[in-house]
Amino acid sequence: MRRTLVCMATSRIGPPRPGPEPTLFEAVGGVGFFERLVAAFYRRVEADSLLLGLYPDPTDLDPARERLTLFLIQYWGGPTTYSERRGHPRLRMRHAPFVVDSDARDRWLAAMRGALDELDVHPAFDAAMWEYFTMAAEAMRNAD
Ligand code: HEM
Repeated sequence: MRRTLVCMATSRIGPPRPGPEPTLFEAVGGVGFFERLVAAFYRRVEADSLLLGLYPDPTDLDPARERLTLFLIQYWGGPTTYSERRGHPRLRMRHAPFVVDSDARDRWLAAMRGALDELDVHPAFDAAMWEYFTMAAEAMRNAD
C-alpha cells in the first residue's frame, strides 16, 4: 500500500491527465504554440495578395486568426472553445464561399509550411500536423 502511494506521488508531473498519452496540444506547448503558429501563418497570408484577396475583410484578419487558432487548439486535443462559439466546424461548408482551387490550396499550404518551419517543431509533431494540413487543404478545394 505504502509503495503504491509513493509511486502515485512521484511518478506524475503536474495534474492527472485524462489518458496515458499527452495530446499533441499539450506536447507542443498548448495555447501559446498555436497562437504563434497562426500568427506566423497569417504574416505569410498578408504577404500573398491572392490568398489575402480571398478573405472577407483583408484589412482585418484578427477574427480569422482567432477562429483558426481556436479550431486548431480544439482539433489537436485542447479546449473546445471553437465549437462553443461556432458550433460544429463543418469546414468544407464554411469554405464554400471562397474559391479554393489548387493554386490557392498550394499557397495556403506554403504559408503553413513556412510557419511550421519558423517554429522549429519536434519532427514527429511536425509530421503529424503536416499530414493533417495537406489532407485537409485538399479537402477544402472546391474548384480546379
Ligand atoms: C488545412 C486546411 C484548412 C483548415 C484547417 C482551415 C481552417 C479554417 C477555419 C477554422 C476557418 C474559420 C471557420 C469559421 O469558424 O467560420 C477558416 C476560414 C477561412 N479559410 Fe480556411 N482552412 C483550411 C484551408 C484553407 C484554404 C486552402 C484556403 C484558401 C486558400 C482557406 C481560406 C479560408 C478563408 C478565406 C476563410 C475565411 C476567414 C474567416 O474565418 O473569416 N482555408 N479556415
